[in-house]
Amino acid sequence: MHNVHIMEHPLIKHKITLLRDENTGTSEFRHLVEEIAMLEAYEAFRDLPLTDVEVKTPIETCMSPMIDGKKMAIIPILRAGIGMVNGVHALVPSAKVGHIGICRDPETHEPQEYFCKLPEQIDQRLSVILDPMLATGGSAVDAVNCVKKAGGKQIKFMCIIAAPNGLKRLSEEHPDIEIYAGNVDRELNQDCYICPGLGDAGDRIFGTK
Ligand code: PRP
Ligand code: URA
Repeated sequence: MHNVHIMEHPLIKHKITLLRDENTGTSEFRHLVEEIAMLEAYEAFRDLPLTDVEVKTPIETCMSPMIDGKKMAIIPILRAGIGMVNGVHALVPSAKVGHIGICRDPETHEPQEYFCKLPEQIDQRLSVILDPMLATGGSAVDAVNCVKKAGGKQIKFMCIIAAPNGLKRLSEEHPDIEIYAGNVDRELNQDCYICPGLGDAGDRIFGTK
């Protein structure tokens, strides 16, 4: 899977272990999701294009590189993806934010889209889709379809935990996007939860259970 990048940084690994812990409470969980998103974004944005601009230092004027952050769209998949937005915004504050609402049917585990609002000129932006969990891959595949339908061309998908089949499915159905995962876990259980995983990311971020 040429388009898949698994995080190797010890800080990310350490913070994922803290996330997994069932004793980690809502406030700390939210904080960790944000930190991991920021560290992942740092890795995922290594290839951002730079443009030289003129800058006047106290000594002299020179040409120096800058990222064109205005051309980015951060797109969380509701709900859990919202937990990652601030972490990415910490690095690229000028990025616009779109939202895609997708919920898995509790019986069939099939994704159901209920909302999609993306920034204008999506065809000219790098779209960074966020969701902490990539399980069957259904939600992620649908989210990418939604961005492509709106005209999105350059797309990255960032998750914290991926299951092997979800990762394979997303990579095969969308070979033209780059996928970043904090860790690849063992498998899905019969309820399509990731094992060992971290439980229900949305519920742990928002304290709904
Ligand atoms: C979770 C998670 C992903 C999806 C992953 O959301 O945040 O969006 O499941 O599963 P998949 O890869 O099998 O599609 P959920 O449907 O529980 O919605 P929520 O974030 O609103 O709780
Ligand atoms: N969604 C979650 O929040 N957790 C899982 O393990 C799978 C899907």
